[in-house]
Amino acid sequence: MSDAPEVKATSNGISPPSFHLPLPDRPEIITANIQKLTELTPNPRHRFIFKALVKHLHQFVNETSLTTDEWMAAIDFLTRTGQKCTPLRQETILLSDVLGVSALVDALNNPVAGGATENSVLGPFYTEDAADVDFGESIASEGKGDYMYVEGRILTTNGLPIPNAIIETWETDDHGFYDTQYADRSHPDCRGRLRSDDDGKFGYRAVVPVAYPIPGDGPVGELLLLLGRHNMRPNHLHMMVEAPGFHKLVTAFYPEGCDYLRSDCVFGVKKSLVVNLKDVVDDEETRKRGFPQGGSFKLLQYDIVLLTEDQSATIRAGVEERYTITQDHKSNKS
Ligand code: BEZ
Ligand code: FE
Repeated sequence: MSDAPEVKATSNGISPPSFHLPLPDRPEIITANIQKLTELTPNPRHRFIFKALVKHLHQFVNETSLTTDEWMAAIDFLTRTGQKCTPLRQETILLSDVLGVSALVDALNNPVAGGATENSVLGPFYTEDAADVDFGESIASEGKGDYMYVEGRILTTNGLPIPNAIIETWETDDHGFYDTQYADRSHPDCRGRLRSDDDGKFGYRAVVPVAYPIPGDGPVGELLLLLGRHNMRPNHLHMMVEAPGFHKLVTAFYPEGCDYLRSDCVFGVKKSLVVNLKDVVDDEETRKRGFPQGGSFKLLQYDIVLLTEDQSATIRAGVEERYTITQDHKSNKS
């Protein structure tokens, strides 16, 4: 006899369903049973999501005739993906990125209209410690890459200036590394925080972005090799813009001409975000813009258009309504 106190294993408190599920004598019954059980989900949105998840997961297993070894390999992969995460590394988000899910969720949740600037993926390299940068100043220390000047205006969809908008911007150096990827990072570099002026204008010095690989030393890197896909992002400059009363914009600009532009490994590129960099070959102008070595620079010009919170909510409500109607229509037919 043990002296340990008597503790009984107990259920989570939910009673068995009032209906009887058939005991499976063929695979389809397993699918039908879980679908019936999922109907019990109290929250309607959760019920809708999990019914769809179960339907597509089971359909996937059937369609692929998934073997036990393949399913165990998938479980091992997902386990290792989670284990690779640290406070500084989010391998699960990276998985969502390379499968195009991050970009799809972002596109569905941030529909644009009225000529507003489109979103692009945030990525894992944004930090909150960027230094404040005045109009015309540089976000990059000297020697971090070829010169680029970035200028434009922050506007409403009616073309009115939005003054005092906060613009956060970040990019890699010309080695293709963000400052956070250097073990000896002493201060933020190739990133800055600035504000639009009274006319909505902004301007700052930066470096010409280069294409770079997303981290390849984890399960996501393995997956891309297995799929025969490269792990490169086309060159880009990130920008995040916020102003009171306006919907926050997270975007990036992608110069035309990069070999990876049309096969971005995380699907962040959108047609409207592809820009042409102008070549300014004029030593005097280069120095006037504040580039100490003179010579020439690339010019990125782009007017950023923000939706108001109200415009954004109205557009999203319209998309949700259309989407729900389509789904209802489909499920009524099936
Ligand atoms: C980035 O652009 O910084 C990025 C986005 C998604 C995954 C990895 C990097
Ligand atoms: Fe990036």
